[in-house]
Order: sequence, then structure tokens, then C-alpha cells
Amino acid sequence: MKFGHFDDQKKEYVIEKYATPLPWINYLGSDSFFTLLSNTAGGYSFYKDARLRRVTRYRYNNLPLDQDGFHIYIKDGESIWNPGWQPVQSELDSYQCRHGLGYSVITGSKNGIEARQELLVPKHDNILLQRVTIRNNSTAAKDIDMFSFVEFCLWDAMDDSTNFQRNYSTGEVEVEGNVIYHKTEYRERRDHYAIFYTNKPFDSFDTSRESFMGLYGSPRNPQAVLQGRCGNSLAHGWQPVGAHHFHLHLESGESFSVIIGLGYVEVPVAEKFIAPSVINKKNAYELINKYSTDEQFDQAMNNLKDFWDNLLAGFEVHTDNEIVNRMVNIWNAYQCMVTFNMSRSASYFESGIGRGMGFRDSCQDLLGFVHMIPEKARERILDIAATQKADGGAYHQYQPLTKKGNSDIGGGFNDDPLWLIACTDAYIRETGDWDILKEKVDFDNNPELADTLLEHLRRSFNYTLNNLGPHKLPLIGRADWNDCLNLNCFSEHPGESFQITGPSEGPVAESVFIAGMFVKYGREYANILSHLGIREEADKAYRAVEQMSKTILESGWDGEWFLRAYDAFGQKVGSHECDEGQIFIEPQGMCIMAGVGVETGQAQKALDSVKERLDTRFGIVLNNPAYTTYRLNLGEISSYPPGYKENAGIFCHNNPWVIFAETIMGHGDRAFELYKKTCPAFLEEISEIHRTEPYVYCQMVAGKDAPTFGEGKNSWLTGTAAWTFTVLTEGILGIQPDYEGLTINPCIPHTVRQFKVNRLFRGTMYHITIDNPDGVEKGVRAIKVNGESVPVGPLPLTADKEVNVEITMG
Ligand code: BGC
Repeated sequence: MKFGHFDDQKKEYVIEKYATPLPWINYLGSDSFFTLLSNTAGGYSFYKDARLRRVTRYRYNNLPLDQDGFHIYIKDGESIWNPGWQPVQSELDSYQCRHGLGYSVITGSKNGIEARQELLVPKHDNILLQRVTIRNNSTAAKDIDMFSFVEFCLWDAMDDSTNFQRNYSTGEVEVEGNVIYHKTEYRERRDHYAIFYTNKPFDSFDTSRESFMGLYGSPRNPQAVLQGRCGNSLAHGWQPVGAHHFHLHLESGESFSVIIGLGYVEVPVAEKFIAPSVINKKNAYELINKYSTDEQFDQAMNNLKDFWDNLLAGFEVHTDNEIVNRMVNIWNAYQCMVTFNMSRSASYFESGIGRGMGFRDSCQDLLGFVHMIPEKARERILDIAATQKADGGAYHQYQPLTKKGNSDIGGGFNDDPLWLIACTDAYIRETGDWDILKEKVDFDNNPELADTLLEHLRRSFNYTLNNLGPHKLPLIGRADWNDCLNLNCFSEHPGESFQITGPSEGPVAESVFIAGMFVKYGREYANILSHLGIREEADKAYRAVEQMSKTILESGWDGEWFLRAYDAFGQKVGSHECDEGQIFIEPQGMCIMAGVGVETGQAQKALDSVKERLDTRFGIVLNNPAYTTYRLNLGEISSYPPGYKENAGIFCHNNPWVIFAETIMGHGDRAFELYKKTCPAFLEEISEIHRTEPYVYCQMVAGKDAPTFGEGKNSWLTGTAAWTFTVLTEGILGIQPDYEGLTINPCIPHTVRQFKVNRLFRGTMYHITIDNPDGVEKGVRAIKVNGESVPVGPLPLTADKEVNVEITMG
């Protein structure tokens, strides 16, 4: 069943039924101020860091679902309702939510009144803007009341939801003119406050939740709304909120609109107060003046649309499949931006409190982002590298506000360092900016330990070599890509973290997956050295990579597929000898992507085994058979019921690795078949089963062993975004950035006869037409550039702004 439809022209998803299977959200903001917004106007805002600078409060896992947000209440006689249906849940006469790129528009109507909320975060400013328009479409004049409402969070979201003995006494507000100031803790160490203003005078307001809701009231029937008037309350401690009330008399056909801003304002410490206890509002006034008229609002919306149109025009495909076009040209790219901004910090499944930016996560997110805003990618690479430890290991996470490695979780996740090579190489291939390698970057965020980025890559590479186990395979440490395969943990007590219990290093447990990564990204590192002319070291690196490839085939091959690991006792994990968990997806994808066994037959065998043992109609499960009991020697993976998460769930993140592997083997039909299985837009028709948003990927779909087979969870913040974008554009459509230029090498279904691509690459727009006259799956036999034949290989770099390319497959 569908709950809406795609409007590709406007780059929007249009939700027509408000009771979606889960809240279907959008992300507003792509610089520093962010808002998560659901299709019923639930959500929350924060500045830069979802934990340390939370602007509005959100209660996860609450009942009723998704009640906190940016709701507008209408009181029309005895009838009370919201344009987005929640939280009152009055039946509406019509409803629509358009989620666009960086903005959303929610429209609802009831009894002849139409209310529309247009919401966006403008480029470069720290503010959520709303324009609310109320229109009387009935034949008679109406007197109605309209209310806005937000609940402020007391900044540190962790403290806000735990330390009530303190924070019931700290809340402070001010009201001046049309502006509510939320200034909790500003009197002491904060140099920032929030504002909640309107561009027209309101009739009443509230800043105390108790006054607006009533002490035992609820968002479903706030006292102020029932009374048709706010209490003009000033919050002292407890729960500061912002509510504006407008009494409206609307003739038939008349409408009223108001702009409402929720802003974050910083003030230099020396200028915090203009008189004792009187806060300096200068910067607030400036922000308000910038966004107070309809023209300014429209301009902000147009700027946002232009920003996205320009950005997305740099990579556009035109294939005969509108879903593929939609994913590359709009939604998959959009999700890559969101994962770049958020890592795994704030979604409807990630509270923004538990994790900051993940080291490996952010490195992988860059793979789908480097082409969009290379300057931001560059900065991110340097930030991540600065959290690398001096021995080449890495902090697993860091906080976006401080950009410092998080010592609570520490390091010892032995795949982490290699991902730094992956993203740096992708960045160089995209931009040709070799100078990034000369940048001086801290180790351990300590300037005294700073060295070049190249030195960081060197230590990443050596970290693997310095941490080999008995089979000469890399030691796994706390975990590799699979955070839940914890071979050195041995946790017996509930509540212990699987990731930080037990030693970070075991002397024996080894990962075949990291070995595959070492071959793939170690080779990229050697290529970098070779390109820089550091010959001897490059040769040595190539030899180490070759050796690892051999070791995989000797000690990491199980006969029909690649082994997963050796545990802390040196026993095999992911082998036909095991009673459960005989085969895992990760090493099959990664080793073949690295080229291991491609020439010698093992790769094909492994892919056949994946098809036979792991494939389902909704994608490839992570392992099979699922673990049915908890295993001390394996850790968290076996803590999940069969079919969920890392225990035989369909992890969308590593499905693309197998798709990549299929393209390496030249199997275009199979690659595309697999691509479709997890692609959300292909699942739109079964939204009641899939449940998460049809426009973005989710992390996990319940596997075949689960009672809820096919149900998605953890949408938005997943490495799936970057990997599916990369596999579709580079693996299947074959547009591959390389040091020397763009290489075009598609691997497509044999039925595809032609497709076109516009790709901005190093300042040149390549207009590429790919013809497939013989219906092959892979292979390029001729290339013409501006009508002239050129040798098959990378397209020559040029200073021209536009180039026409014709590719003939065969
Ligand atoms: C983490 C990733 C990890 C994956 C598999 C995700 O939740 O963010 O870093 O690779 O799970 O365990």
C-alpha cells in the first residue's frame, strides 16, 4: 500500500495519508542549524550538536507517538485540530505533507478552514522559519484562534532528560515585543540563547508549559487552546516553552499569514549583558530583521531550491527507469548529504545523545558526498584524521561540537584506520587535490603530535600490519565493520557494553573482513605513494597487499566462501564447520571488491554461495543460519533474536558490497536485481510491510528468520546511503572518478540499450551518452569525445566547461 507519491518535478515526496506506518521525516538545514520534522509536524531542532546544543525537546519511545514538535493548533468554535493531524488527531477534511529538499509543507483543512505550514531552515542562518497561512474557504465569516507551540530543551539533551533535581530550577525566559527569549543558563557559562518570534503582534503568549498545557493537561488538549487564550506566563524553572496565540476574524475567502522563527543566537562573551541581568539582544534583532517579511521568506525558500538544483545538476542520470533516475538525481544524493551532516547522531532512531560522529561511519559517508561539496569533504577528512591516535588506531567516535575523540568509547575497532584511506582516496580521485596529503593534522587532537595527512594514511596502513594474529590475518580488536561481532568481549552481565567490555585487543581473534579491506584500501594507499613517486615504499606496500591477498586464500577461505573470522580461541567463525552462522556477507563483498579470488575462481564460488544461502526477496541477510542462542565468544551479534539487526537481518549497508562484487564479475543483470531489492523507492508499493520512508534507505530490514520479515528499521542515518549511491553510479552506471580522469565502465542489465549522464568533474560538465547496441552487460569498445574517437580508458581532462562523450558498449 502507498501512503503518497513522488513528485520528481518538484523533487518532493507527497504524503497523502497522515497515519503513515511510522513517522516519515525530513531533515531541514544543511549547515549548522538542523530540524528533524515528521509528516505530522513532530520533531526537534538543534545547533550543530544534537546532544550539547539541543534547542527543543523530544521524547523518544513515548506514547502517544511523536507528540513533540512544531505543531499549530486551530480552535474553530468547539473544534480543535492541527493541520498535520497530530497531536489532537481530529479527523481532517484534507491533508497533505510535501517533504522537499530542506523544506516541508504541511496542509490540512477542516470545516472550511485551510491551514498551511511551510517550514524551512534557510542557508547559512541558524533558524527554523515557518510561515503559517490560514484561509477561510467557507461561505461565512469565521472567528478562530490559532496557536504555535514549541517546548524548549535545556540545551544538553542528556542532562535535560536525566538531571531533574537541577533543571527544574534553572529555566529562564524573557518576553519583549513579539519575541520570546529562552535564556536558561545564559546567566552563567552559556553565550547563546534561543528566540521564538512572530512577525506580527500576537494576542497572548505562554512560556510556562504548565500554563499552556495545564498541569495534568496534554498536547492533545492544551488548556490554553481549550480556553482560546494563553496565560501570558513567564517561566521560572520547570519547563520553559514558547507559545503564540492569534485571534483571527476571517471573512469568507480571506486569509491570514504569519512568519514564526525559532532561532539560535550567540553573543560574544564580553558583550553578553547590556545591563545587570539584561541580555544583549542585538544579534537576535539582526536575525529577526532578516526574516520578517513574506519577500524574505520567499527569497529564503528560493535560495534553498537554487542551492539544491545547482548541487544536484552536477550529477544527473537519464535512464529508462524513473526510479533509478529519482534515486540518483534526488533522494539518494539528498540522503548522502544528511548522513554527511549527521553521521549516526540524530534521527528518529538515534537519540543524538548516545553517539556523536562515528570514525568509520563518517569516512564511509564521504564516499557518497565528495562530489557534492568537495570543500566540506576536505574539512571533514582533516577533522576525522585529527582524532586518529599516534599509533594509527582511532577513536571510534567524536563530538561534532568539540571535534575531539570520545574517550568513553575509545578505540580498538581495528577496521577504523583503513576507512581513512578509503575516503581520502575517493576525495583525491574526485578533485585531483593531492595537496591535501601535505596538510598538517593533529594526532589525538594534540597539535604537538601533528604530521601530514599522508603520514596519517601511512600509520593507518601500518596499524593493520602491526596488529596481525596467528594466521597473519588482521586482529579484530573490539570489532570490525560489524560492531556486534565482539570476539574479545565475553560479557556475562546485563547492561555491560558489548563494545567496551573486555580487552580492546585479544592476542588471537582475527578478521577476514579487515584483511579484505587491507587489500582494497592498502592498494589504494600504494597507488597514492606510487603516484607521488615514493617508489620504494609503494613497492613494499604492494607486496604487503599481495601477501595479504594470499593469506586470505590460504587461511581465510572456507572452500565455498570466505571465512568471517577466527575467534579468541582460534576457532573459525562463518565456516561450514560451524553449527550456526556458517556464512557471512561482509567478507564475500569486501574480498571480491578487493579483487581477491577474482582470477582464481573463489570469487565466483563465493557469490554463488551468497545467492544460495543468504539471498531473500528483500535483500541479502548478514549471516546464515541465524544464531539461536547467546554465545559468549561472539558477543552482541548473538544477543539479537534471529533475523534482526546483525543476527541475520538484511543489513542494507553491506548489500551494495555484493552488488559491487557482481559488477566486478560483469554480472549486470544480477547486480541490478540485487539493487532493486533494498532500494526504498522500489518498495513504495509495500509501505505497510516496509514501514520506513519510501524515499530513503533504512539501516536494516528484518531477515527471513524474523516474524516481521521485510520490515525496515533505523531509516536515514546509515552508510547504506553512500554505498548504494556509489554502487549505482560507479558500479552499475560505471561513472568512476579516477586520478587521471573519469573512467566510464558500466555493468548494466543486458536489456538496457541506452542511457545518458551529466556529470560535473573537476570543473567540466561531461554530457555522456552510453549506447549498448549488442545488449551486453559489461564492456566498452569505443569512446568518442566531441565527435572524435579516443582510446578506451579514462576520459582526457580538459579546461573546457562542457564536453560531449559517446560510449559504445560491446
Ligand atoms: C554502525 C556502524 C556499523 C554497523 C554494523 C551501525 O550502527 O553505525 O558503524 O558498521 O552498525 O554493526
